[in-house]
Amino acid sequence: MKMRAAVLEEFGKPLVVQDLDIADPKAGEVLVRIKACGVCHTDLYTASGADPSGYAPCVLGHEGAGVVERVGEGVTSVASGDHVITLFSPECGECIHCKSGKTNICLAIREQQGRGYLPDGTPRLSRGGEPIRHFMGTSTFAEFTVMPEVALAKVDPSASFESICMLACGATTGIAAALWKAEVEKGSAVAVFGAGMVGLGAVLGARLRGAERIICVDTSAPRLELAKQAGATDVVSAGDDAVQQVLDMTGGYGADYTFEATGLVDVMGQAVEAARMGWGLCTILGVAGKGEKLEIIPRFLITGRTVQGGSFGGAKGRTHVPQLVDMYVRGELELDPFVSHRLKLDDVNEGFDLMHAQDGIRSVITFD
Ligand code: CU
Ligand code: ZN
Repeated sequence: MKMRAAVLEEFGKPLVVQDLDIADPKAGEVLVRIKACGVCHTDLYTASGADPSGYAPCVLGHEGAGVVERVGEGVTSVASGDHVITLFSPECGECIHCKSGKTNICLAIREQQGRGYLPDGTPRLSRGGEPIRHFMGTSTFAEFTVMPEVALAKVDPSASFESICMLACGATTGIAAALWKAEVEKGSAVAVFGAGMVGLGAVLGARLRGAERIICVDTSAPRLELAKQAGATDVVSAGDDAVQQVLDMTGGYGADYTFEATGLVDVMGQAVEAARMGWGLCTILGVAGKGEKLEIIPRFLITGRTVQGGSFGGAKGRTHVPQLVDMYVRGELELDPFVSHRLKLDDVNEGFDLMHAQDGIRSVITFD
């Protein structure tokens, strides 16, 4: 079948929207018609060529939501017409990691996914017979995608695609980290470093958990304004004195929970320092550049701080993402204010330009 897709032809060059062939889903796979897709920093990072594990040509995009068009042999958990969110982080339920219950890092399709292939080691994308690789197992900058069943979360069909597509990556990373990874306690003090999609998600999650004080740190005044709308009680302009300001706001002790959502190692260090002596828990969510190191003074650890991290905020995609969609439908999660721009697939490069300019939180591509 023919479809339109945005292809990364060459690093550092604009994506090229064109017709591609997409093959039928094989056993265990599902053909999804994409309805909305967020433009995330990871797409930009790969397109720029900065990611050493990146490859081209491929179809980028990983924050997708859509409708199941057709299922391959043996697929039982989703059926044609179901609404789904695409998961770059699958949940097979059967591998040693999934069975442990201790981690969301599923091993089922990891190796081939990292190479740009479906689990059988081949792509479903091509043009004129030339194979084109997938990206993050999702490739959602396209009218359709073929994905393994274990990488799709079936969600409430009453939710709007353009709002819930953000739960495919950024929003869930922050929300799940606060709800389930850090398990923020009622009445606690929280500091969130970074007010992009991930940081704002952490603010939402902390508020849902009943945190009393939610301090958000960022360089951008408009973002801090959004953080206030999301539930931040205090905002701090990012800089060298950010830690001191958090200490001053928490009786000199620091926050019970801190979250880092910038990917900058200096800020990660601040998030560790701003965590309270005795029991402060620092959760690292940003992705640092390859080879960068986080320095921690051991005294911070010996005096009772804990540092943890979590890809996708530790969320188990098929378990947690449908729960978050339910919360959105019930009006408990205000995601709509984060959609700053709506684009068509042909304008995907504009989404990257807006991100470069730090204009808005999320550009979402919608498909008719
Ligand atoms: Cu992302
Ligand atoms: Zn698994």
